Amino acid sequence: MSLDTYIAGLPKAELHLHIEGSLEPELMFELARRNGVAIPFDSVEAVRAAYDFSNLQDFLDIYYAGANVLLTRRDFEDLAFAYFQRAAADNVRHAEIFFDPQTHTDRGVPFGVVVEGLIAGMERAKTELGVTSGLILSFLRHLSEEEAFATLEAATPYLRHFVGVGLDSSEVGHPPSKFERVFAAARELGLKLCAHAGEEGPPAYVREALDLLHIDRMDHGNRSMEDEDLILRLAASRMTLTVCPLSNLKLCVVRDLKDHPVPEMLRRGLHVTLNSDDPAYFGGYVNENYRQLAQAVGLTRDQLTLLARNSFEGSFLSEPDKAARI
Ligand code: HPA
Ligand code: ZN
Repeated sequence: MSLDTYIAGLPKAELHLHIEGSLEPELMFELARRNGVAIPFDSVEAVRAAYDFSNLQDFLDIYYAGANVLLTRRDFEDLAFAYFQRAAADNVRHAEIFFDPQTHTDRGVPFGVVVEGLIAGMERAKTELGVTSGLILSFLRHLSEEEAFATLEAATPYLRHFVGVGLDSSEVGHPPSKFERVFAAARELGLKLCAHAGEEGPPAYVREALDLLHIDRMDHGNRSMEDEDLILRLAASRMTLTVCPLSNLKLCVVRDLKDHPVPEMLRRGLHVTLNSDDPAYFGGYVNENYRQLAQAVGLTRDQLTLLARNSFEGSFLSEPDKAARI
């Protein structure tokens, strides 16, 4: 059996996926037409050609612009269901997906429209594709603590739909400490806590995510590898890291996939998972992340199996649900 076939056959969970980052150019054009929204591109090819980023902010500017075509409940349902179809084709059985409510409410799209549309797509994924999922409300860290609190307040009527909160957008200059109080409030509400840390930000931000936010799961975490104490601590606590190889390549977090830290992370006993982050922008869904990384750094079948198993272990499924799926 080829390595690609082996990867394709592994049941997986995806734990780091921004639903807005799964907006393929074709759907972007369809929604722009359906909603009468102008976009600054005249073809699908022109959109793809613009996806050439030299850092996180470069990408975020285009990603937030792309989200402008999302207006109605149906748009969010279509977006989510399109992702789940791709995920199911990659043998993803469970996905915990981020959404950025502020990207939409700041444009006048009501919170309820976003959530109800995404939930409708998630319910269809369960009945039509057998893929289960959870929704993670992600705060935009370039905005204020006050705005994050207002978002949490707006989320309260929909709380039963969320498994957790996250922290994303421009990392450098927006340390986790800025959101210590809002994360404490989210925990009080019974939500799990994730934060992007150590993608572009220094190891000190990773420490803050652990010590001030008390996260249950870390998104990216690459720059933890610069700090020996952090490595030991992450390994001892079995903190799950949701690593995104193609994202790291496209956003120049690594120069070449051959330099990717996953082999060293595994060697040091870190609980690593592989994920696609923003697959429409970074050139591949979850299997493509497994494939390209495996090829670049030479992962073994046992390592690939471990990564897939880690994805269920690191999920927010109940312990019996995890046991049934591993
Ligand atoms: N990093 C930070 N914020 C994001 C990302 C990312 O990779 N994708 C979407 N929002
Ligand atoms: Zn991300």
